[in-house]
Amino acid sequence: MNLPHEAGTPDQYGVVGHPVAHSWSPFIHGMFAKATAQNLVYRMFDIPPDDFRRETLRLFASGVRGLNITLPHKQAAAELVNELTPRAARAQAVNTIAFFEDTTLLGDNTDGVGLTYDLERNLHIDLADKRVLMLGAGGAARGVLGPLLERELRELTVANRTPFKARKLAAEYADMGQIVGCTFAELQGPPYDLIINATSASLQGEMPEMPPGVVGEETICYDMAYGRGHTPFTLWAQQLHARRTSKGWGMLVEQAAESFLLWRGIRPSTQPVLAALAALAQQT
Ligand code: ATR
Repeated sequence: MNLPHEAGTPDQYGVVGHPVAHSWSPFIHGMFAKATAQNLVYRMFDIPPDDFRRETLRLFASGVRGLNITLPHKQAAAELVNELTPRAARAQAVNTIAFFEDTTLLGDNTDGVGLTYDLERNLHIDLADKRVLMLGAGGAARGVLGPLLERELRELTVANRTPFKARKLAAEYADMGQIVGCTFAELQGPPYDLIINATSASLQGEMPEMPPGVVGEETICYDMAYGRGHTPFTLWAQQLHARRTSKGWGMLVEQAAESFLLWRGIRPSTQPVLAALAALAQQT
């Protein structure tokens, strides 16, 4: 009796995080769905770490077809799924889960391809032979190290508040290129070509203390965090006269397009969404 109605029921997607209220993913996926005529809804789910496993499985049992996973759950998500794509297995971190009808939960990680897409195609940065500094060694950093090292960087330094995690990460990726892990205090010049902030310090309004000399007039500083106005990291970089600062809007939109591709089989055009976000940011 209710079949015609059922046929029009939108497929359910969403993002799980804690906190998650700051997320722009519903806006982005809403625009993608409209542009590609896909019948879907995309919601936010604030789930604390202790409930992550139970509540996420409950969402899939209730009919959700796909989820984005954001902090602090990316590593827990890698343990939750039945199968990992090679890039998610390498990262041991998942930002996208797809639920297939044969009851497989597939975990993928689209952060790295989102970041390199934004750096290379949107910002026109050539990564080959560059000295790159990554701040942070959590789930966000894990997701992007593989795709960065595939660019044949001259060297990649991972610096973290807790040095053990940076050294462990560097050891895990040593087969892919020149990579070292250290504390912030151990960093020294000459200035890096590119500094990427993958810490969650910006979310707390903080910038870890850095030794002088890591930023020069040719350094590009990229904050994976996104928000209105400056972040503590982009402000720090600007004060040190970095060549350019950028926030993670482009990475956010490009990783979302890759998630959408996994779920729906279509990669939506990202330029209209980037333009809409830029216009919104200017209005505030
Ligand atoms: P995510 O998935 O976003 O990476 P995470 O796994 O909780 O989240 O990792 C957060 C990262 O930000 C870690 O590298 C963390 O440093 P520690 O490993 O020492 O915890 C870093 N971080 C968070 N707050 C920070 C702060 N105030 N100063 C410096 N680093 C910070």
